Amino acid sequence: MNFADELVQWYHQNKRDLPWRHTTDPYVIWLSEIILQQTRVEQGLPYFNRFLENYPTVNDFANASEDDILKLWQGLGYYSRGRNMLKTAQLIQQEYGGKFPSGYDELIKLKGIGDYTAAAISSFAANEARAVLDGNVFRVLARYFGINEPINSTTGKKQFKQLANEVLNKKEPATHNQAMMEFGAMLCKPKNPACGICPVRTGCVAFKTNATTHLPVKLKTVKVRERFFNYFLIIDDGKILMNKRTGNDIWTGLYDLPLVETSTLLPANEVITLPHTAQYFGPDVHTEEVFGLQKHILTHQRLTIRFIKIKNLPEFLEPDWFFIEIENVQKLALPKIVFLFLTNFFKFENNSLFSN
Ligand code: ADE
Repeated sequence: MNFADELVQWYHQNKRDLPWRHTTDPYVIWLSEIILQQTRVEQGLPYFNRFLENYPTVNDFANASEDDILKLWQGLGYYSRGRNMLKTAQLIQQEYGGKFPSGYDELIKLKGIGDYTAAAISSFAANEARAVLDGNVFRVLARYFGINEPINSTTGKKQFKQLANEVLNKKEPATHNQAMMEFGAMLCKPKNPACGICPVRTGCVAFKTNATTHLPVKLKTVKVRERFFNYFLIIDDGKILMNKRTGNDIWTGLYDLPLVETSTLLPANEVITLPHTAQYFGPDVHTEEVFGLQKHILTHQRLTIRFIKIKNLPEFLEPDWFFIEIENVQKLALPKIVFLFLTNFFKFENNSLFSN
């Protein structure tokens, strides 16, 4: 048996029973694949179920508001994915008569659908012979075939794509793709792969040369940006001052608190004397409580966040600021770190809608 057939046989014996493997509905597969690009299976499952419950069809999804989608997406991170999904659903409603496409060439034109997602949907929904390449597949191929080319270099991407399509079982691309991903997720894991029970280890270059820990190779390219967020907690008459995030920064469309960002870490008593702070809250800011610093790691940014409760009311409301009843805050889509802080501060019941 060749490598791919071995993996398919392993898959039939070991696969997890996952809901998106029981459907060929491209909409449902799209939902699952976009969520699974954000998080692991166990953590993605509750999100998948909630989305499908709330929006059983792409038309239901298209009729949702951005606030609703972001609220359901809360905790998954990379919120532009959620916003792109809404735009795509609306386009499918308007231009495709609500029929979600299942062919690669149509899918690849849609917002938020790249090569991976188009290959996944077209193979799972229409059995199109397209090999998927996600982190799992890169790892399995790099190890089995002993490829040292970085998976994120231009040549590497080309080489892996060609190889993935060469080994693809063209008669059963859906099963083949699921098998490759499942094998990478469950057996050929990033750390401590289960080589002892691996059905293809005798042909595996990395196993034979003791190189599993070195493969795959990935170039480190992006610099991490350090940012310092000082959030102001202002409560007045049972209401809290919130901010809707706009523009091109992280968390667009989500809600947070009035913010003064600094380029270095300053003590809280200096933050409250900054011109920016004075412009918002006047020259004499009365601090009630300063909460401890928290780190929040995003893909390309490292945030250091503190919350400062002050007695002052704003001199004026910025265009994106508004007061809202405290009990209604939970209905807003909030960045996870803000959600956790407010949940803890107000002793809301945690609805555990989080990936970690
Ligand atoms: N990760 C990405 N897509 C997946 C799928 N269809 N099944 C399991 N894990 C996945």
